[in-house]
Amino acid sequence: MEDTKPKSTPIRFLSSLLMISLLISSSSAQNCQSTTFSGNRIYSTCTALPVLNSFLHWNYHQSNRTVDLAYRHTGVSSTNWVAWALNINGVGMAGAQALVAFQGTGGNMQAYTSSVIDTRISTLSPGNLSFNVPSISAEFVSSEIIIYATLQLPGDGTSFNQVWQIGPLSGNNPAAHNLAGANVASTGTVNFADGSVTGDGGAAITRQRNKNIHGVLNAISWGVLMPFGAIVARYLKVFKSSDPAWFYIHVACQSSAYIIGVAGWGTGLKLGEESGLDNTTHRNIGITLFCLGTLQVFALMLRPNKDNKYRMYWNFYHWGVGYAVIILTIVNIFKGFELLNPAKGWKHAYIGIIISYGAIAVLLECYTWYFVIKRKRQTPLSGDKYPYAGNGQPGQSV
Ligand SMILES: *[C@@H]1O[C@H](CO)[C@@H](O)[C@H](O)[C@H]1NC(C)=O
Repeated sequence: MEDTKPKSTPIRFLSSLLMISLLISSSSAQNCQSTTFSGNRIYSTCTALPVLNSFLHWNYHQSNRTVDLAYRHTGVSSTNWVAWALNINGVGMAGAQALVAFQGTGGNMQAYTSSVIDTRISTLSPGNLSFNVPSISAEFVSSEIIIYATLQLPGDGTSFNQVWQIGPLSGNNPAAHNLAGANVASTGTVNFADGSVTGDGGAAITRQRNKNIHGVLNAISWGVLMPFGAIVARYLKVFKSSDPAWFYIHVACQSSAYIIGVAGWGTGLKLGEESGLDNTTHRNIGITLFCLGTLQVFALMLRPNKDNKYRMYWNFYHWGVGYAVIILTIVNIFKGFELLNPAKGWKHAYIGIIISYGAIAVLLECYTWYFVIKRKRQTPLSGDKYPYAGNGQPGQSV
């Protein structure tokens, strides 16, 4: 047990770092202007949309208020549908006037218009839009879907809310898309006349990335490393041979967890400020945890000598605060899952870690008591009832 755990923690740590770098690199944009299109189509304006590997190319004809456009979505598989929409009277998906495309069964490319009325029951079925779409077609070329369409712009303005999306196919029909990350950041505005694109898509994805970094940093520090360090302190020090190694492992775990944890805590405070969520239970528990964690670090420096008669009280304080930190951390990580709403796998992975820690603790607790009782039998004169001395020294009852 003592041999395998220290290996798995660095592996978890490394895979979390890998996750962070993937999140950061996935949003890098590709060049927009160098794209060539079939049928000698040439578009004078082009913009890389902030998320979901999507590009909008178009020509705007002021004389008849039409737009010839190409919506290009890269990194697509044949089991995906893609859609791009204007929302004339609102934002987001409800009310979106969408162009939809996917490769249907038998490889036939489907491209049609769809008006989203109720987002809960929408299957993106074909229907007319609130404005005229004289032509629409699509093609699938080397992991890209390109929708070509001509729009007759409604009203008299040239700036519109836009929304774009990708999702999986279910048979020959679009199925529900993800409801997190880039899939909820894919909204903004487009001005067909001056080519400007606005929207908080970029900001939303940055915020999402910061939330993920916050979650990963705090989960590995407070949620994984700290309980591991506590297990080391509680169960390793019973064995005389592990002194003083357990102490150094414990201090190394807790202090590196504290440093990473404070970084994660800082990102959390900033996120809370930005999102206006500055009085949530999650935030208040986080601040409490920071205070208790800091207290533990200072308490380490102020701990009485092993032989000092007050050392016992210091130990009770140190264990009490330590267990409180672990319990509050677990509560707060689940509060964080509620706010962040990450892919289910993250929550399941964390539940798995908690359960394995719990199982390890129970096993080691039994083993420790077995070990201590056996040791007592061998030395019947010892008066100690507890495996640990008040002075924190291992093996004192032998
Ligand atoms: C709109 O005008 C442009 C050029 O001014 C023309 O090429 C295009 O065919 C017209 N579109 C429609 C649908 O009339």
